[in-house]
Order: sequence, then C-alpha cells, then structure tokens
Amino acid sequence: LADPSFSAAVIGWQKQHGRHALPWQQTRDAYRVWLSEIMLQQTQVAAVIPYYQRFLSSFPDVQALAAAPSEEVMAHWSGLGYYTRARNLHRCAQRVVAEHGGIFPRDPLLLQDLPGIGRSTAAAIAAFSYGVQAAILDGNVKRVFARVFGIDGYPGAKPVEDAMWRRAVALLPEQGVESYTQGLMDLGATLCTRSKPSCQTCPLAQRCVALATDRVGQLPVRKPK
Ligand code: ADE
Repeated sequence: LADPSFSAAVIGWQKQHGRHALPWQQTRDAYRVWLSEIMLQQTQVAAVIPYYQRFLSSFPDVQALAAAPSEEVMAHWSGLGYYTRARNLHRCAQRVVAEHGGIFPRDPLLLQDLPGIGRSTAAAIAAFSYGVQAAILDGNVKRVFARVFGIDGYPGAKPVEDAMWRRAVALLPEQGVESYTQGLMDLGATLCTRSKPSCQTCPLAQRCVALATDRVGQLPVRKPK
C-alpha cells in the first residue's frame, strides 16, 4: 500500500495550489490548532473564521477557556451549530489543564482520549502542532481515497473504513506531514468535491481509478438502505 509518489503529488500540489493563509495556519500553537479543527469538523472554513477570531480574543489560551463559565463559552459558539462540540470543547479544555498541565499531548492516542477528539482530529492536531506522523481520515479524505483507489464499498461500513485507515497510515510521508495533511484536506474540499470535481487540474488524476473507469460520479458509494 505504501507509495511515496502519492504523498509527493499531494505535497507538491499543496505548496502550489493549496490554502496557506487560513488564520490557524499561522501558528503551531496546539490550542489554536485544536480550536480550529473542532470548529471545522462540521462547518465550512468561511463560516468558521469570524468565530475562531472572536473565540481567541475572549479565550486566548486553554487556561482562560477552562476557567470561563459554560454560558459564556456557549454564547461564543452561538450560531455555529452542533452544540455538543461546544460542551466537549469546554470539558476538553478543563481536562487539558487538570490532567496535562495545560499542554495538549502530542501522542494522538492521548489526544483521542479527550472529549470531542476522534482519531482523525487527533491526527490533524498532532500533525499540525507537533509535526507528528499521524494519518487523518475525514469525509473528504474518504471521498478522495474511494475515487483514487476505486474503493467500491460504503466508507461508513466498518471493514471499508478499516481498509481506508490502513491505506491512510501506509501513505504517510516521512517528511512534510503538515503540508501533506493540509493538502489532502484542501484537495477533498476544493478539487475532489462530491459533485462537479475538477479532475482536469487534479494532481492525482493520472493515478485515479475512478477517473480511468468513468466512475467519478459513482464513488464513493452512498449509504446502502
Ligand atoms: N477542515 C478540517 N480541518 C481543516 C483545516 N485544517 N483546513 C481547512 N479545512 C479543514
């Protein structure tokens, strides 16, 4: 499953065409990276930016967030939706302060043990904050993998998801995990979109099984009823 030319293609594309100026890309502060990744879990970049900025102004570090009253945290989240994220965010900040001395752990397994942080978010935080080689697999990346590798199963099914995780781990680059991780996210969000993907400009087009077999519109397969 390993193939260094895959990450090289993603990294090269990211450096030339990916997004570099997002507010949370200007820092390796794990608190800021974590806050952005939680906000971005179910919300588009454009909607997140003003919330992210206001949140940081009011809660500049994990100690400030942990010590804030819940009502104040919820008020700052109001309008972003999926409010379980805000409750978990607050609880997570309190645990980072109480159990980790206010420092987000660099081990993805320790990050994953915290409220609101699943395997993929843990990997993104570890990669962006600490340069740890850890694999992400969110909805966008599942779509990229389903198409590039011609994976026919529903990605929500456990065996299919497990196989995708194995690929995600095997494809990690030895160097440049930050650019690679951001590149995969940006590719999925801007080129390899659900409808009308931009295969013409895709750095993975020459290796894309879905494109070669004219199944881009069929993959990933939808949830079976
Ligand atoms: N979606 C999830 N994480 C993201 C990130 N770091 N940049 C852009 N979109 C994202």
